[in-house]
Amino acid sequence: MSCISVNALSKSYGSFKVLDSISFDVDYGKVFGFLGPNGAGKTTTIKILTTLIKPTEGNAKILGYDLLKDEQKIRSRIGIVQQKISLENNLSVLKSLELYGMLWNVQKRIREEKIEEVLDVFGLREIKNSKTEELSIGQRRRLQVAREFIHDMDLLFLDEPTVGMDPNARRILLDYIKKKVSDGLTVFFTTHIMEEAEYLCDEIAIINKGRIVTIDSPQSLRKRYGSIKMVELRLKEPFDRNVLNYDGIEIDNNIVRIVSDNAEEMLAEIVRRLHDNGIYIESLHVDSPTLEEIFLSIIDERYEKGN
Ligand SMILES: Nc1ncnc2c1ncn2[C@@H]1O[C@H](COP(=O)(O)OP(=O)(O)OP(=O)(O)O)[C@@H](O)[C@H]1O
Ligand SMILES: [Mg+2]
Repeated sequence: MSCISVNALSKSYGSFKVLDSISFDVDYGKVFGFLGPNGAGKTTTIKILTTLIKPTEGNAKILGYDLLKDEQKIRSRIGIVQQKISLENNLSVLKSLELYGMLWNVQKRIREEKIEEVLDVFGLREIKNSKTEELSIGQRRRLQVAREFIHDMDLLFLDEPTVGMDPNARRILLDYIKKKVSDGLTVFFTTHIMEEAEYLCDEIAIINKGRIVTIDSPQSLRKRYGSIKMVELRLKEPFDRNVLNYDGIEIDNNIVRIVSDNAEEMLAEIVRRLHDNGIYIESLHVDSPTLEEIFLSIIDERYEKGN
């Protein structure tokens, strides 16, 4: 049995289909990464799976419970860090953690222990007496994530938890999540940072415009797309684009972009063509695009071809 089993979930607002029949499974004890551009439907998916909003169609099993019938049972066994930060004003960091533990009915002794732990892990000890409204954005995010680890849970949803965190805080959080997963926690994680997803996730789903484009392990995604390079040529002036009539290149005024797994060979050919036509190159830049960029270019291609 899977920890999360999603079956043809859809969500519409009026005639706008935000989620279009998504299905996937997440095994127990794994980290499932959910990636996609702004507005793809990531937060909507998390809100549905955590029972905060209802799907328009479809269903899911969460920890063996029916999403539509067993809301309370699901809520009592999951944790959620929402994308939007919401903290009680007028409370100190410490009081805020205590309150959160009490809301979850965590026994006093365990609560105190957990609070001690997260104060250290998330670097909150020095600011434990500061009011939450006085915290920096990164500190607020750390507190919001930290409090979720005070209560016991089987499944944790994290919606872009590292936004606003500095590199050190990010790494600490990712490693802490890894440790919790090795103790049996299952994690559903969204991010825009591919390196984070690769570091943490056992499986990655890419969602675009409410549809899942691909689900695979980070390793095989790398294998599939890892050799792709991006070359950007800036020309002295705009040119007749018929000169460069090739597949896999993008032309934007005087900028030519090649995204391909044989970009080097294409580059040689393109430079020759430009030279033969008396067109001068001002600068040249070679980059490995992030996996997300590659996915998006693949998605665009697919839409353009009408598949
Ligand atoms: N209550 C709502 N009413 C109407 N449209 C909504 C509502 N909530 C979300 N949407 C729309 O649904 C789409 C998906 O939003 P969602 O927040 O799930 O995206 P996301 O993938 O989390 O994006 P981001 O990376 O920016 O967080 C967006 O176009 C958004 O405007
Ligand atoms: Mg979102």
